[in-house]
Amino acid sequence: MITAKEYTARRRELMSTMQGNSIAIVAAAAEKVRSRDTLYPYKQATNLSYLCGFSEPESVLVLIPGRDQGESILFCREKDKLRETWDGYRVGPEGAVADYAVDDAFPIGDLDDILPGLLEGKERVYYAIGKDADFDRHLMSWVNGIGGSSAPGEFVDLDHIVNEMRLIKTASELKLMRQAGEISARAHCRAMGIAKPGIYEYQLQAEIEHEFMASGATAPAYTSIVGGGKNGCILHYIENREKINNGDLVLIDAGCEYENYAADITRTFPINGKFSREQAAIYDIVLEAQVQAMAKIAPGAAYNVANEITIAVITQGLVDLGILNGDVSELIEQQACKEFYMHSSGHWLGMDVHDVGDYKIDGQWRDFEPGMVLTVEPGIYIAPDSKNVADRWRGLAVRIEDNVAVTKTGCEDLTAGVPKKRSEIELLMAG
Ligand code: GLY
Ligand code: MN
Ligand code: MN
Repeated sequence: MITAKEYTARRRELMSTMQGNSIAIVAAAAEKVRSRDTLYPYKQATNLSYLCGFSEPESVLVLIPGRDQGESILFCREKDKLRETWDGYRVGPEGAVADYAVDDAFPIGDLDDILPGLLEGKERVYYAIGKDADFDRHLMSWVNGIGGSSAPGEFVDLDHIVNEMRLIKTASELKLMRQAGEISARAHCRAMGIAKPGIYEYQLQAEIEHEFMASGATAPAYTSIVGGGKNGCILHYIENREKINNGDLVLIDAGCEYENYAADITRTFPINGKFSREQAAIYDIVLEAQVQAMAKIAPGAAYNVANEITIAVITQGLVDLGILNGDVSELIEQQACKEFYMHSSGHWLGMDVHDVGDYKIDGQWRDFEPGMVLTVEPGIYIAPDSKNVADRWRGLAVRIEDNVAVTKTGCEDLTAGVPKKRSEIELLMAG
């Protein structure tokens, strides 16, 4: 759990980076209608969640460093017995002050009356422009309504500052990410334990998501990918409608969201519990690439080392199998493996699955630092219609993905709870 104290510390840290005489405005995500009076599940704007943990729509957080009457102000929906009967509990402005440690709170309906007064006389506004066209328009109308020299003249990108804060996880964030990783690992074990030829992709998805929800996760962190056979070659395959036949591999990429933090695990295994020769050969290359990449992740190493090592191992492996032909160094130089390994080795992970934070600083890959969390997810995908590849390799797809947190000396595997060695997978599947 993230305490009110930690949220307060995050807001203070953000305010300490803001230049004098400024104001920050963070708007909630808009609700989206699915049909008539049915809405899509609501997902709060991540930076608002990060800064105060408030999960209701129609809310706005305003930060004014140095303001005597309070620096953190939350606008939110008022208590309303009728609406609460239909749509659920509302915290209300009084509850916001009591439970979210903001200094003051007002009904969202008062935003038009109060916000122009808070903007007046400020030199700059920290705000994420371009995320919500409606709110952008409102903000511009408030600013333009002030006019003259009292109106703020400068907009600063708020997201960039918050995103850099989010990149380095605190101890309490790491604890939640460990839990997200453990639950997701258990879900993958459950799917392996239940898998058998003839099962449908959606049935494995159901097993995975059952474990997520039964363990207290709020949702999948992204749409679960369950690709049997050649469907594994489609990187973002989410239909999950087909039957998985004897002799096929299945690639499952699924992770839960637990208290706002994501996990992102991929495992690939034979639906009948026994890797064939070809499946084993491809699998072992991907595993070797992943293990070697994880061994390189430590403070001081550049972000791209993981990607480079996966390209080197995969290229060598594909040459050894005769799937690529030529001099390994030249093939690496030409990025020849891109036909079979077309994504990079991973991404930042946190409150969002593809989490925020720059990968490069001034054009150079940044170095790892303790508290960063990332995925390591090499893969080999041999399309069913791949040219110049022997038939026996066609339609094979393997990805192995784990989540690691950079420590003082190396990295911690947050998703080690699900096996990835072939022998361990076969043992688990044998029951
Ligand atoms: N699950 C999406 C990804 O692995 O990046
Ligand atoms: Mn990923
Ligand atoms: Mn993934």
